[in-house]
Amino acid sequence: MSNIYGISRWLSVIVALLVIIAVTPAHADDDDDDDRGSKNGRKPLVINARWKDECGSCHMAFPPRFLSAESWRAMMGGLDKHFGSNASVDAADAAEIGGFLEKNASSGNRMSSKGSEPPLRITETRWFQSEHRKVADRWKDPRVKSPANCAACHTKADSGSFGERDIKVPR
Ligand code: HEC
Ligand code: HEC
Repeated sequence: MSNIYGISRWLSVIVALLVIIAVTPAHADDDDDDDRGSKNGRKPLVINARWKDECGSCHMAFPPRFLSAESWRAMMGGLDKHFGSNASVDAADAAEIGGFLEKNASSGNRMSSKGSEPPLRITETRWFQSEHRKVADRWKDPRVKSPANCAACHTKADSGSFGERDIKVPR
């Protein structure tokens, strides 16, 4: 009898370990959920060559973590009418880029907008607007031109770094 109890005690230890192992990486990936800017800003840039080429030709390639998977799906579904431009790519590229964007998308609900539709603009998300409320008077500055011009203030935006150390706002 004592043997059986011994085995079941071991089993529960093993099960507990497996649970910890299974849960830990998911947790580490999860910090998009708390949209604290500093964490967001320091996240390393994830790269996909096609995304960098196709989505970085007219403007900087906006990192996937700044929109939700729903938003990216909606955007990839309408590239022929992309903010007044035709940004279409062939089907294979669309599948690869779409997969990359969705896989690395934000899961935080502050990446949604105030409306019910998933936003197509990063700059329309509640997260973006609250993070940037102190510089909202800068959008009209000729050196900035638009809130979507991230690199006007985030000097290393192109390499995916948005951390506070790399911010220089034109005044
Ligand atoms: C006019 C300048 C300006 C522009 C343009 C701008 N930002 Fe920012 N951004 C800032 C400032 C200033 C902060 C810090 C705000 C604070 O701490 O109050 C910031 C904060 C951030 C943070 C959080 C950084 C951290 O570590 O706290 C991220 C991420 C970010 N911006 C992304 C973007 C993206 C993406 C774009 C373009 C779509 C963009 N920003 C456009 C000025 C700008
Ligand atoms: C043919 C040029 C072109 C290509 C290629 C292109 N875009 Fe754009 N994109 C635009 C224009 C124009 C805007 C609107 C800019 C503005 O109003 O500030 C825009 C805006 C955006 C915005 C919104 C920025 C904001 O928050 O205001 C996102 C996100 C975006 N593009 C993602 C993509 C992705 C993803 C791809 C690749 C699949 C892509 N773009 C390829 C022209 C392009």
